[in-house]
Amino acid sequence: MKEAHQPPVLRTPRLVLRPFAPADLEALHTYRSDPEWGRYLPLPHPYTLAHARTDLAEYVSLDAATHPFWAIEHQGQVVGNIDAELEAMGRALIGWGIARPLWRRGLTSEAARAVVAWCFEAWPVRRVYATASARNVGSWRVMEQVGMRREALLRGHREERGVVADEVVYGILRDEWTPTDHRADRGEHVRDLGG
Ligand SMILES: CC(C)(COP(=O)(O)OP(=O)(O)OC[C@H]1O[C@@H](n2cnc3c(N)ncnc32)[C@H](O)[C@@H]1OP(=O)(O)O)[C@@H](O)C(=O)NCCC(=O)NCCS
Repeated sequence: MKEAHQPPVLRTPRLVLRPFAPADLEALHTYRSDPEWGRYLPLPHPYTLAHARTDLAEYVSLDAATHPFWAIEHQGQVVGNIDAELEAMGRALIGWGIARPLWRRGLTSEAARAVVAWCFEAWPVRRVYATASARNVGSWRVMEQVGMRREALLRGHREERGVVADEVVYGILRDEWTPTDHRADRGEHVRDLGG
């Protein structure tokens, strides 16, 4: 596999976000081949080892200057992925996913907060946004957790395993983002913003 400029390692209290490596093939396949994992995503179903190999080859070859793609590591295991894509017009698009046994523990929100912060700190972007199936409540709850607002509902915009679904668009502007959120994930002191 061809390897490109790598994304930086980001640490949060419970996670390490680091570049994918060829050795992560089995881990990637394990969490993605869970039949529930890709329910709201345009992923092949069933998701085979060959699909994982193709995807991994792409992830390690992306240029992190414009599209960092991180493996999410928890307790020493690769359990998910998160990426940010620098787009034209001062925008960045982020996406994520984590292994099913770890759902609903706030881990994706923790990773996403770190990546939103990284986007605003590393890139001169005005806006960070994300999209999801409107049926994917967990994903748009993550968007809300990182301070994004719902901006659009695109009706009948996608098909998920033969089911037509709406799509939601969420975003956060630089002016709305508080670096404090990121420090919270680093375990640093968080000043009381109330009042
Ligand atoms: C969507 C996904 C990333 C959510 O990850 P997660 O680690 O469970 O999210 P968090 O634990 O950070 O949860 C954030 C919030 O969503 C809620 N939530 C998570 N999954 C939920 C679900 N299936 N239904 C309702 N709420 C859910 C959490 O309880 C939490 O609620 P809160 O804001 O009240 O605290 C995860 O389900 C996943 O990886 N799915 C498969 C891949 C995928 O769909 N990726 C998104 C592509 S757009």
